Amino acid sequence: MTMRIAVAVSGRGSNLEALLRTLGPGAPARVVLVLSNRPDAGALARAAEHGVPATVLADAGDPGEWLEWLERHRVDLVVLAGYLKLVPAAVVAKYRDRIVNIHPALLPAFGGPGMYGRRVHQAVLASGAPESGATVHLVDEHYDRGAVLAQARVPVLPGDTPEGLAARVLAAEHRLLPAVVLAAAAAGRPVPLPQPVESHP
Ligand code: GAR
Repeated sequence: MTMRIAVAVSGRGSNLEALLRTLGPGAPARVVLVLSNRPDAGALARAAEHGVPATVLADAGDPGEWLEWLERHRVDLVVLAGYLKLVPAAVVAKYRDRIVNIHPALLPAFGGPGMYGRRVHQAVLASGAPESGATVHLVDEHYDRGAVLAQARVPVLPGDTPEGLAARVLAAEHRLLPAVVLAAAAAGRPVPLPQPVESHP
């Protein structure tokens, strides 16, 4: 049975694009819905290009609105791909262990409220850490705190800028997130990835 996936977004949607490209016809999982909290999210155009229904939430803090959309589209798994707000607690409760998030650092380091986008990479560089990467984890009621399912590591290189590091991490994200979704589809629920996902600097 095909796993039905909703992808929640706030921005550009390159991780959504990576999923849409991986989950073509015949794949064991399919993106059936894109939810955005922002009407100007570039991800909405990516959904349209792939013919996937997309909606802008009128109130992203309203669990009723979320649940109505997820139920209407019979969603099995919710993927937060650059979704920058908290998912309402009642949605987390109803979809416990069926919501995953991708974060552009090696959690538990460099996560939590306010840690998104460029700020994450700035903090990594300021810390002097020799490596960074991407993490996919289960979503609970707190930012970036649920159980880690998979990580991909990339080196921090001498002279790195936040933008350079972000691009290297993003390339790893585009491999990691589809791998986690395919493993979830095979298992019928999100599961830890047995193997580290290859990453190339
Ligand atoms: C990605 O790097 C994702 O990991 C990050 O936002 C970017 C979205 O890019 N998410 C967070 O920082 C969540 N805390 P995209 O819209 O091109 O997929």
